[in-house]
Amino acid sequence: MKVPKHILIAEDEKFQRLKLRKACTTAFPTTRISTASNSLEAIQTASAENIDFCLLDFNLGDGTAKDLIPKLSIAIPDCPMIVTSASDTQDVVIESIRAGSADFIKKSDAFKPQKLANQVSDVLERIWLSQQERRKLDRRLQKIRSTASTDPLTGLLNRRGVDERLNGADRRTIDRRAQTAAICIDIDHFKQVNDRHGHKAGDVALGIVSRLLRRRALNRDILARWGGEEFLVIKPSTTYAEALLWCERLRRELSDTPISVDDESFFITASFGICCVPSTEFNASIFDRADRALYRAKELGRNRCSTWAFSNFLDFVKPGELSSLQAIEDVLSRYEKSLSDTQQEHLAPHSRAVGELADHIAKLLTLDDEARQRIKVAGRLHDIGKVAVPESVLAKPRSLTAAEYYAVMRHVRDGSDIAAERCDLPEVASLIEQHHDRFDQHGVRWLQEASVLPVADAICTMQTDRPYQQRRTNDEIVEEIVTEAGMQFSPAAVIAAVRAMDAC
Ligand SMILES: [Fe+2]
Ligand SMILES: [Fe+2]
Repeated sequence: MKVPKHILIAEDEKFQRLKLRKACTTAFPTTRISTASNSLEAIQTASAENIDFCLLDFNLGDGTAKDLIPKLSIAIPDCPMIVTSASDTQDVVIESIRAGSADFIKKSDAFKPQKLANQVSDVLERIWLSQQERRKLDRRLQKIRSTASTDPLTGLLNRRGVDERLNGADRRTIDRRAQTAAICIDIDHFKQVNDRHGHKAGDVALGIVSRLLRRRALNRDILARWGGEEFLVIKPSTTYAEALLWCERLRRELSDTPISVDDESFFITASFGICCVPSTEFNASIFDRADRALYRAKELGRNRCSTWAFSNFLDFVKPGELSSLQAIEDVLSRYEKSLSDTQQEHLAPHSRAVGELADHIAKLLTLDDEARQRIKVAGRLHDIGKVAVPESVLAKPRSLTAAEYYAVMRHVRDGSDIAAERCDLPEVASLIEQHHDRFDQHGVRWLQEASVLPVADAICTMQTDRPYQQRRTNDEIVEEIVTEAGMQFSPAAVIAAVRAMDAC
C-alpha cells in the first residue's frame, strides 16, 4: 500500500479539521500531518513544507478548492490532491476533477480511516503507475530519437543527429569567445577496399576510423558519419593550430593501424579538410569550406590534411600564374585584403629581400641563369604557405605551443604544394620544400641551388624586428652564419652570403 509522507489538510471548520486529522493519523500512523484553515494558509504551508499529498475541503472560508488547486499546483507541482465535501452533487465532483483533483471523497467517508486510507492509496498507486508508464514511454521515445539520429554501423551521429546537437544543448555550450573547427574526413580509395577485400572489410575500416575518432575526441566534440566513407568532426573551443595538429596525428595513426579481416590484413589512409572560424561565425556553411579543403587534399594526392585558407588561395590563383616575379606581385596585391598585417610583411618585404639576396648569393656561386631564375622565384615565393597561417600564430610574441609550431612549419609543405600547382618552373617547389632544411641533414650531396635559400632567409629574418626577437647588426649576423657553416648552412653558401652582405 502506498503511503504519503506528509499530508496537508485544508478545512475551514475547526471540528471537521480535527476529525479529518484524526482520520488521517489513524489511517497513516507514520505520516506527518499539517493543517490549514483557509486557502491562503494552505498555500503558505505548501510552499514552506515538503507536502506530498493534499486533502482539501471544497468550500474554504476564502474560496473554493476549484480556485485553490491551480495555485497549489504551482507551489507543489505534481503533488496529488483529493477534494472532500459534505455534498457529493455532480457539480462539486466535476468542478473538483476539472480543477485538477485526482479524486473526490465524500466528507462522511473521509472521516472513516479505512475508507480514507483506501482512497488515498488508490490515488497514489494510480499516479505511481502512470509515472512508470510515462518513464517507459520517455525511454522508448529517447531510444527512437537516438536510433533516428545515429549511424547504426559506427554508432556515430548521422546528419540529423548533428543538426539536433547543433540546434540543442551544444549551441549553448559552445564558447562564443573561442574558435570552432569543422573537419571533413574521407577514407582514401574506399571503393578499392570494398572491391579488393569485400564489403565486410569496408565495414571494418569504417569501424576502425570511428574508434580512432572516439579515442582522440573530447567529450564536447561532435562526431558524425557524414556519408558513405565520409566523417564530420566539430571541435568547439579549438584553434586552427590545434585542429591541424589533431588531424595530422589522427591521419598518421590511421595510416599505421592494420585492418584485419579474416586472415587478411591491410592498411588504409584518409584525407582531411579543416576549416576553423570564430565561434560567433560558426554555421552550416563552414562544413562546405571544410569539404572544399578535403577536395583539395584529395586532389593533391590524398593521405594528407588541407585547410580552407590554403585551398582558398589555390582557388584564387590560375595555373602557371606564379611563374614570374611580376605575376607574383600582381597576385599578392589582388589577394592583399585577405591577408593579415604579418602575412603581408612575410609575403612582401621579407620575401622580396630573400629573393634578391638569394639571387646575389647564387651569382657569387656562379650558378647558371636558369638556376638563378628558379632561385629568384623560389625566394619570392618561399613563405607563400603562410597564407594559411593565422595572424594569432604568426604574430605571437611569446613562445609557441607544439600545435602552433606545427601550424607555422606547415608553411613549408603548403608553400611547396602551391608552387607545384601554380608555378610552371620545375624545381621551384623543391627549393621551397627545402628552405628550412639544414646542411647537416643532407651533407655535401646537397644541391648548391637548394642550399642558397636557407642562408638568405636566415639573414633577412635576422635583419628585421620580429615579435619574438629584435633585429641584429650585420656583424652579429655574419658571426651567427659563420658559426653555423657546416651545420645549419652550407659552407659555400655562407662564404658567398658574407661576400654578398659586404657588397651591399
Ligand atoms: Fe619559411
Ligand atoms: Fe622566410
